[in-house]
Amino acid sequence: MVHHPPQRQKTTALWWGIIAVIHFSSSLASSFVIQPRIWEYKNRHEIGYEVAHSISSRQSTATLITNQTTMNSNMASNFCEEMNKEIAITTKESGTATSVLSKTSDDITPILLLNGFGVGSFHQHRLIPCLLETNSEDISNQRYRRTIYCVDYLGQGRSWPKDCQDGRSVSEQGLQYSAETWIDQIVTFIEQVILTEQASNKVHLVGNSVGGHLAAYIAARRPDLVESICLLNPTPVWGLNLPGWSGTLPAPIVPKAIGRFLFDRIRDLRTIEQFLEQTYSRREAFTEELMHQIRGCTLGNGGHAAFASILWSPPLKVTPDSTLKENFQDCLSQVPCDVLLVFGKDDPWCKPAFAKKMLQALDQREPHHIHRYIEIENAGHCPNHEAPQAVAHVIRTWIASSNRSKDHLALVDAGNNGQIIFQEDWGETRISERSAHDINLGMMDRLATTFIYR
Ligand SMILES: *[C@@H]1O[C@H](CO)[C@@H](O)[C@H](O)[C@H]1NC(C)=O
Ligand SMILES: *[C@@H]1O[C@H](CO)[C@@H](O)[C@H](O)[C@H]1NC(C)=O
Repeated sequence: MVHHPPQRQKTTALWWGIIAVIHFSSSLASSFVIQPRIWEYKNRHEIGYEVAHSISSRQSTATLITNQTTMNSNMASNFCEEMNKEIAITTKESGTATSVLSKTSDDITPILLLNGFGVGSFHQHRLIPCLLETNSEDISNQRYRRTIYCVDYLGQGRSWPKDCQDGRSVSEQGLQYSAETWIDQIVTFIEQVILTEQASNKVHLVGNSVGGHLAAYIAARRPDLVESICLLNPTPVWGLNLPGWSGTLPAPIVPKAIGRFLFDRIRDLRTIEQFLEQTYSRREAFTEELMHQIRGCTLGNGGHAAFASILWSPPLKVTPDSTLKENFQDCLSQVPCDVLLVFGKDDPWCKPAFAKKMLQALDQREPHHIHRYIEIENAGHCPNHEAPQAVAHVIRTWIASSNRSKDHLALVDAGNNGQIIFQEDWGETRISERSAHDINLGMMDRLATTFIYR
């Protein structure tokens, strides 16, 4: 039995109440499960993660198995809306469902989805079903069994130190909510959880925003673990490294007060909505539920300390103790695997202008390391959530091929003016493949990219 601090009971009950399995299938013979789980990291942190995979059996009805009725119907109606498929709900004992996951020899390289800042694995719940969609041929020959993991970073979503006391508990002492800590957490997670459960030596990393930033550093540092990376509007910078504190808890008085002040303002529902309006290309693409899920992540007992620590923590370096000045470009030029850049065009921050810079850095690598660039129209900073079908199409094509060079693998068919159109509930999205030459920089773009990479 897992212990939770009483202050977090409401949120945690909601999440941990989901016992084991969301099991889903449709008339397309596409079915999958998503299992919420907990992993203990360094004996002092409880990490929330999820495992999803397709099921290679023919089932005509969908079931969603949880122990909590409210969450059941919420999530079920969500899936219905998003996937426009018929589902039914049943309730089962927890033990029955867990046997679905077993180590099998025909597993293929798993995917680890890395979230952006301020969200949990719930932000991947539109992408997962699209990634796992299988056609009946795949199912009948039992070959297709892709497993997808999502993990919440420490201090985000469902992952917190045990008995959080806003920076004062034993499990928080000496903790720094830095990108460095998250990388250690993710690498340990890959080694201890994913590669232990799956018959594979490597993972594909798919990261949005700060998740893309982290994915590139993980690939550069641990090429033995990473088959390829797919960066969805990755942030070109992370870690403000503010003066006067290293970000290591407990926080001194001033950073603590500033962190508290800012954190209480940004987690206001109206502020979250305004922020999402900027983040998404279309207002219709995000729901009230997403706003509440994001706010829900901030209600724990460690949020203030985590936020202050994140603000003050330092940026990453490819070699952690290096004294050289380094930026994200330097990291990308050292990534020894295939890299797919996918940018929602309407992102107000991580614009295609940054993709151009990133492509230039990737060009410095050995030519056998492939990099490609896909642009999505009508999507903003979070294509995984705003353009799930488009993103899934590209990723599935990308990871299914071992030779990802442009001459060998078409990510977007040559027909239709080199575009593919996807119909989401909130409107159309389109993908096209572009090169660095195709990206025109306006004056503001030049200023922004120069400022960031000065
Ligand atoms: C399921 O929920 C019921 C009622 O909330 C609770 O009594 C029971 O212990 C839960 N079962 C499990 C396996 O957690
Ligand atoms: C990948 O495909 C291209 C084009 O067909 C070919 O030139 C290249 O040699 C292939 N690379 C590998 C590693 O097979």
